[in-house]
Amino acid sequence: MKQEFDNYTQEDFKVWKTLFERQLDNLEDKSCLAYLSCLSELSEVLNANSIPQFEQLNDVLQRKTGWTIEVVPGLIPVGDFFELLSRKKFCSSTWLRSMAQLDYLEEPDMFHDIFGHIPLFMNCEYGDFAQKMGEIGVRFKGSEEILIELQRLYWFTIEFGLLQEAGTKIYGAGITSSFGETNTIYEKSTEIRLFDIDEIISTDFNNNVIQTKYFLLPSFEELYAALNKYEEQLISLACL
Ligand SMILES: [Fe+2]
Repeated sequence: MKQEFDNYTQEDFKVWKTLFERQLDNLEDKSCLAYLSCLSELSEVLNANSIPQFEQLNDVLQRKTGWTIEVVPGLIPVGDFFELLSRKKFCSSTWLRSMAQLDYLEEPDMFHDIFGHIPLFMNCEYGDFAQKMGEIGVRFKGSEEILIELQRLYWFTIEFGLLQEAGTKIYGAGITSSFGETNTIYEKSTEIRLFDIDEIISTDFNNNVIQTKYFLLPSFEELYAALNKYEEQLISLACL
């Protein structure tokens, strides 16, 4: 599959511009520095003025970190998703929400997949973590239990992770791409736990509601180190 750029309508371009400008402004003091600097590094090919052309984005991404975008029709089986991650390919849809539904999404659209996810793949530590998660998913693809643990880890980091950095900052794409959720994480009722991989892999999540529990990561290095340790435990258990 590939992006059919000529099929985007005037409304699509307007939606993209509206979402991009509104969220860039909203994230200024809430997003982690790594996300903001990666976004700025991509600014020639990822900006409010135009829906991004995946070929151009891929050129820049691939040159810097080896990651590329893989166009998918929507949600794909988890095994396929991890297999793509292990090959440094991140899935994206190509459709965009309508102007009438700026803040309502049943499934991730291109704004979530590209604006939310893609910039941090310019960061090597973050990308290494995502690739390693994919490799573990491939290695243990026969274990439903391990795949569930990995999905939870993915959820509470890549989708909804927070980073400790002069306060609580956002790095998870589910928050980064959501105007509403970017603001609700700072409400008093939100529970923010310190990053703990053992707690995360045993914590269920609900993808149909705004989250009420998040995990605060000390650094991206910590993310990779925790995943490495988790992999070593899995390998030693598998060898018993
Ligand atoms: Fe996502």
